[in-house]
Amino acid sequence: MNIGYVVGESKPTFVTALSSRPLSVGEYVIIDSEEGKILGLVEKSAVSSAAFADVRNFEEAAESTEIAEINSRDKTYTAHIGVFGFLDKLQRGQSIIPAIPPIPGTPILQPTREDLETIFCPTKDGWIKIGHLLRNKTIDAKVNLDKIVSRHLGILSMTGMGKSNLVSLLTKEIAKLRGTVIIFDYHNDYTSLNIPRINVVDAKINPRLLDHEQLSEVLEIRDSANVQQRILRMAFTNKVKESKEFWEKLEEEVEFIINAEDKKLKEYRTSAYRVQDIIDEAQRRFADILDPDMGDPLSFIKEGRANVLNISELSEKQANVAVAFYLQQLLRDRKDASIARHGKLKRERSYRFESPIFVIIEEAHVFIPKEQDTSAKYWAAKIAREGRKFGLGLGIVSQRPRSVDLDVLSQMGSFAIMKIIQEDDQRQIASATESTSRELIGQLTSLNVGDSVLVGQWVNLPSLVHIEEVKEKIMGADQSAVRAWAKSEKMSEVAVESTQKLVQKDLLLD
Ligand SMILES: Nc1ncnc2c1ncn2[C@@H]1O[C@H](COP(=O)(O)OP(=O)(O)OP(=O)(O)O)[C@@H](O)[C@H]1O
Ligand SMILES: [Mg+2]
Repeated sequence: MNIGYVVGESKPTFVTALSSRPLSVGEYVIIDSEEGKILGLVEKSAVSSAAFADVRNFEEAAESTEIAEINSRDKTYTAHIGVFGFLDKLQRGQSIIPAIPPIPGTPILQPTREDLETIFCPTKDGWIKIGHLLRNKTIDAKVNLDKIVSRHLGILSMTGMGKSNLVSLLTKEIAKLRGTVIIFDYHNDYTSLNIPRINVVDAKINPRLLDHEQLSEVLEIRDSANVQQRILRMAFTNKVKESKEFWEKLEEEVEFIINAEDKKLKEYRTSAYRVQDIIDEAQRRFADILDPDMGDPLSFIKEGRANVLNISELSEKQANVAVAFYLQQLLRDRKDASIARHGKLKRERSYRFESPIFVIIEEAHVFIPKEQDTSAKYWAAKIAREGRKFGLGLGIVSQRPRSVDLDVLSQMGSFAIMKIIQEDDQRQIASATESTSRELIGQLTSLNVGDSVLVGQWVNLPSLVHIEEVKEKIMGADQSAVRAWAKSEKMSEVAVESTQKLVQKDLLLD
């Protein structure tokens, strides 16, 4: 169906069109050039009315509505269309931009179902449906899971726009395929996810497996307390790590420093007392988190399952240590397993994970921050660079993209980007993604909940889609304060009533 014509000055990658109806931003169209059908995406759309061009006051505006109504030529629908390339080539996975710009007068057509399905909804292994095209609604939108495990994924948007919903959806689909997903759940968002093959684990830290810097972080010794840090380093010996009674042995070593007659060590005495207090306190405060007898934390993660590691009970520093520890171990394990598989290393043991893993870090601005070097960031960056070779994919999720480290963000081969208003965030995303998607990024302010721009290697072409809602989950919906207050009001009435009854009863008893 002919819906418009190319007008004005065309370029090989960009044309302007006048159309018979307003075209939607994000809608795909066909430019029917003599060289062949070209696929384009509406990047900007404008409507103007001749009758309203010079209107200067209310009366003129009122009159103009009547003129506009009777004049069938009154409206001008202009669309700016980005060119992706020849349709038949795109359907075979190649993007060939026409050498000659589409000539003005070239018809613009509505694409058929077949035109779009081969590109956005391929029937190939590894592609799963996550929703439908936002503007061409009857076309399913699929993504290539292989690409996110091999080349990583960034999920970015302002808060409440559907990031965790997409994480749940991908997790559900990967678990269906018996793949291994690990989610670091900082806000306890996923523990109630009701999908088959889920394995919820309260993440704990085994202090034996840490180095002295990490131990000092989980014990919450201040960064500036140099002497306390030094004492902990001296006390945290291999003997302590191997001792059956971990905490007792550690305290014994600190005790040794307290009692030492050495002149230098005597100066440390006050700080050593403080370290002792800190260790005592930590055993009480963090009894559920620090467990020297838990064995290997990774043994709680199950291959072929959706593993939710609940880190919501941990402080930010402890969570950082835990995430870093898991990432380091996962990379090591996958590395060894891959090298062994390729026969370079004698296969001496079985590896924990024999197949690829997809690891998702929520609140990436906390764990992979821009202007701070954290150990979680070190390992995430390493996985972002090397994970591809070993089948370890990283998914980073954030509502503050501007605060996520740009190096790590730029390593993400694919992105799902939902509504974002802040310009700083948009700028950061534009620098992390490829230039083809810049126009789409300009559209981010106008998206609704669940709408997403998909770019990168997990799709054949950048697209605007609406993501399916995962029903198996009570999501992080905005809490209704008013409803909660009403409820607590009712509760207090009940409470008053019952105390009154009690008082009356007491009076009767008297
Ligand atoms: N694709 C969707 N379709 C319809 N509703 C959705 C969709 N995705 C999310 N929602 C709704 O939006 C709300 C917030 O979604 P979600 O928790 O996924 O957002 P988020 O981006 O992870 O937020 P936060 O930044 O706070 O973690 C939920 O109540 C959910 O029901
Ligand atoms: Mg979320």
